[in-house]
Amino acid sequence: VPEYKVVMLGSGGVGKSMLTTKYMNGNFSDEYDPTIEDSYRKQCTVDNTTCILEILDTAGQEEYAAMRDYHIRSGDCFVVVYSVASMETLHEAASIAKKIFLIKETDHVPIVLVGNKCDLPEREVSMREGMDLARRIRSGFYEASARENIRVQDVFTQCVRRIKRL
Ligand code: GTP
Ligand code: MG
Repeated sequence: VPEYKVVMLGSGGVGKSMLTTKYMNGNFSDEYDPTIEDSYRKQCTVDNTTCILEILDTAGQEEYAAMRDYHIRSGDCFVVVYSVASMETLHEAASIAKKIFLIKETDHVPIVLVGNKCDLPEREVSMREGMDLARRIRSGFYEASARENIRVQDVFTQCVRRIKRL
C-alpha cells in the first residue's frame, strides 16, 4: 500500500489541527491548544485505490517557524490553510506557497488551499479572493469548516488525487 505524506501548513489558529482531527476521528474542540507537532496515519480509499496518508500537523505559531523548511522538504502534498475571518492569514498562505515552490524547486507541487472557518458569519476574505490565490499557485481550493464538518473529507481526497496526478 503506497504511503503519502501530507503536511498541514498555515498561520497559528487557522484550524489546521481541527481539520486534521475532524478528518481522523470526528473530533473538534472550541478550545485553542497551539500545536508543536503531531502526526497521524489513516488508510483511505480514493477512486478505488487504497493508500495510507501520514498527516503531519505543524505549528503555525511564529516561534516554531524554524521547522517549516524541513517539513516542506519531506512532504508529498501540502494543505495550506487560512481563516476566512483573517486577511492576514491569506497573505501568510501566499507566502507559504511561495516557500514551497522555492524549496521543492518546481511550480508543480500538490497543494490544496483551504479557507477554513467558513461557518463564521463575519469574514474578511471572500470566496473570490481565496480562488484567486488558488489559481495563482495552481492548487486545489475549498472553503471548509472543521467545526461544522463542511468539506473536510474533500480536502484530503483532493490531496490524494493531486499526488496521483503528478
Ligand atoms: P496552531 O496549532 O497554533 O498552528 O493552530 P491551528 O491552525 O492548529 O488551529 P486549531 O485547529 O487549534 O484551531 C484554533 C481555534 O480555532 C480553536 O479555538 C478552534 O476551535 C477554532 N476553529 C478551528 N476550526 C474552526 C472552524 O472551522 N470554525 C470555527 N468557528 N472555529 C474553528
Ligand atoms: Mg494546531
